[in-house]
Amino acid sequence: MFDLTHTPDRRASDSMKWGKYAGRDILPLWVADMDFAAPPAVLDAVQQRLAHSVLGYGVPQPSQVEAVLMYLERQYDWRIQAEWLVWLPGLVTGIHVACRSAGGGVLTNTPVYPPFLAAPCRSDQALRRAPLVCRAGHWEMDTDALEAALLQNPDTKLLLFCHPHNPVGRCWQQAELEWVADFAARHHLIVCSDEIHCDLILDADKRHLPFARLNDDAAKRSVTLMSPSKTYNIPGLACAFAVIPDTELRQRFVRVMSGIVPHVNLFGLVACEAAFRDCEDWRQALLATLRQNRDRLAATVAQLPGVSMTHIEATYLAWLDVRQLHLANPVAYFESQGLGFSNGADFGAAGWVRLNFGCAPELLDHALVRLQQAIENVTTAPRA
Ligand SMILES: Cc1ncc(COP(=O)(O)O)c(C=O)c1O
Repeated sequence: MFDLTHTPDRRASDSMKWGKYAGRDILPLWVADMDFAAPPAVLDAVQQRLAHSVLGYGVPQPSQVEAVLMYLERQYDWRIQAEWLVWLPGLVTGIHVACRSAGGGVLTNTPVYPPFLAAPCRSDQALRRAPLVCRAGHWEMDTDALEAALLQNPDTKLLLFCHPHNPVGRCWQQAELEWVADFAARHHLIVCSDEIHCDLILDADKRHLPFARLNDDAAKRSVTLMSPSKTYNIPGLACAFAVIPDTELRQRFVRVMSGIVPHVNLFGLVACEAAFRDCEDWRQALLATLRQNRDRLAATVAQLPGVSMTHIEATYLAWLDVRQLHLANPVAYFESQGLGFSNGADFGAAGWVRLNFGCAPELLDHALVRLQQAIENVTTAPRA
C-alpha cells in the first residue's frame, strides 16, 4: 500500500544528512532522519494549508490538541488534560528548558544522545553520568551506579531519561520504569523523559509505556517530551510538545521558555494533527520495513569479526561496538570506506559508531557490502 522501498533522491536537496557528504561517495547513515517521504496524509494536509496562502502567526487549534490527546489515549491508554501540553519547536529545546528549570545537578545514563550531555553544562548545571551496562548482550541500567551518583551528589535535581533509548535501542520495560520511578521519588528528582522514539518499537512483543503513565507520583515529577518528528519523518517541520501534569512544574518550565522559545510553525502543527490522526497504516508499513532492515543488518554484523551490535528493540539506530578493530579514528576510517556513521565519542563512548538504518532497503544493502569490505580492509588502517 505504501512504497517504502523507493526513496526520493535527496542528494541535491537541502538535506543536512546528505549535504554533509555532498560530492563524496559516502553513504550518509548518521543523523536520525530517515530517507522516506512523509506519509501521504501529512503531505496532503500541509499542501491544503499552504493553499490558503496566508502564513501569519498561528495558534494551536482545538483539533490539533484533540489529535494529540486522542493519540496518547489510543496508543498508550494515557489520558492527559489539554492544559498539561506545552508546545515546543523541538525536543532539544525541551531538554535545555528542563535543565534550566530544574535548579540543580543533572543525572543521565550513558552512552546517550549528545544533547543530554551538552544541555546541563549550557544551563550551568553539573552533569553526573551513570553508565549503562551490557550484560549478556542486553543493555541495562546500572542501579548501583545511579544510586552511587546520587549519594555523591545529593544536590542532583533532574534525571534526563531516554525512553526508548538512543543509541542502545532499548524499550525500557515496566519493572525497569518502576525502579526509576521509585529512585526518583526517594531522591526527589524531576524526570525529563525523552520519548521521541516511542512509536518506533520494532519488537512485536514489546510496548512503549510512558514513564508518566506508571503512577500518580511518576506523573507529578515528570516532563515527557514527544513529537511526531521521528516516526513520521518530519523533523524539519519542528513540532514537538512536553506533557507536564504538575501545575507548578509546568509554570516553571513555561517561565524559562518565555521570550526565548519560538512558537511552533503552523505547518508543523498541521502535520502533527494529520500524522497522529490519519497515519497508522503508514506507521505499520514503516515498522515492517525497519524490522527487515534491522534484521539484515544484524545478520551481516554477526558474520563480521571485530564488530558487534546488540538487539535493537526500538528506533532505527544501531549501536555498533568497533573497539576490537583498534582504529585510531573509527568514523574517519569508515568514511574512507564510503560509510558515514555518527561518532560514539559524541554519545560518551569512544570506539563505538551509530548506524541509521532508516533508509531504502537497497541503500542499506549497498552499505552492508561496503561494511564487509571495510572490515576486510581494516588491516591497513591506522590503529589506536
Ligand atoms: C532521543 C532524541 N531526542 C531528541 C532528538 C531531536 O529532537 P528535535 O529534533 O525535536 O530537537 C533526537 C534526534 O535524533 C533524539 O534521538
